[in-house]
Amino acid sequence: MDLGLRGKKAIVTGATKGIGRAIVELFAQEGADVALCARAEDEVASAVQELKGRGVNVFGDAVNVRDGEAYKAFLEKAAGALGGCDIFIPNVSAGGGFDSEKNWVKSFEVDVLHTVRGCEALMPHLEKSGSGSIVIIASTNALETFGVPQAYNAMKAALITYGKQLAQHVGRKGVRVNSVSPGPIYFDGGAWELVKGTMPKLYDWAIKQIPNGRMGTPEEIARVVAFVASPAASLISGSNVVADNGFTKRVQF
Ligand SMILES: NC(=O)c1ccc[n+]([C@@H]2O[C@H](COP(=O)([O-])OP(=O)(O)OC[C@H]3O[C@@H](n4cnc5c(N)ncnc54)[C@H](OP(=O)(O)O)[C@@H]3O)[C@@H](O)[C@H]2O)c1
Repeated sequence: MDLGLRGKKAIVTGATKGIGRAIVELFAQEGADVALCARAEDEVASAVQELKGRGVNVFGDAVNVRDGEAYKAFLEKAAGALGGCDIFIPNVSAGGGFDSEKNWVKSFEVDVLHTVRGCEALMPHLEKSGSGSIVIIASTNALETFGVPQAYNAMKAALITYGKQLAQHVGRKGVRVNSVSPGPIYFDGGAWELVKGTMPKLYDWAIKQIPNGRMGTPEEIARVVAFVASPAASLISGSNVVADNGFTKRVQF
């Protein structure tokens, strides 16, 4: 199946490692031009270098998405460098953490505000595209109770609701909005490697929840995101696509 990604222009936040990195790799492989950011300048530079090897147009810059002005400037530069934006993937998260008020504020600013700011700043480009598409990276943590009450889970729930409502609002302008909710995704240097080393009981519990006992890989999530973002998924809008290898137990009607 041709996803129709060749020549599309995609902006992905937080794409030097993990899920975001796998997404830009796959977009580039499919012939899409990509722009990415992360905080570590050297890692952005090396990701840009490697992606250019795929023969597509690549733009990258170091920015902390929590800094609203710097982040919006990055988005404009990225859309300028690519010559527009057809696909936007807000992927950065502040991650889990102890539930102090400080952590709630950080999670709101990073997870929610960076997504909302990005959607608003890029909407004129997405409307112009004719096949504009936003895929918000959420989490199964929003769908079922998981661990202790924490900002991360609540912010991901807010993002799914925001995406649904935005889809209704911008659909008539030809822009689709969806979210993808991964279950546990394991990669070297990722959150679950850390959990495995520091909270082995939680790691073992998570493995036991997955029918075939295997966490996903960033590449497996990237394939779901690439499809949902692509013109091939033209009827999918306002959906939350769960990709969790059976981790969650609810029936999704
Ligand atoms: N891993 C999982 O099991 C899992 C499961 C469900 C959902 N998710 C979601 O999937 C998304 C990606 O998670 P991940 O585990 O693949 O990656 P990750 O380890 O959270 O890394 C994400 C990327 O974002 C960048 N980043 C982090 N904070 C940033 C900030 N404030 N500003 C700009 N860039 C920032 C990182 O580079 P720098 O550190 O250099 O900035 C890195 O490139 C997140 O939304 C996460 O909640 C993950």
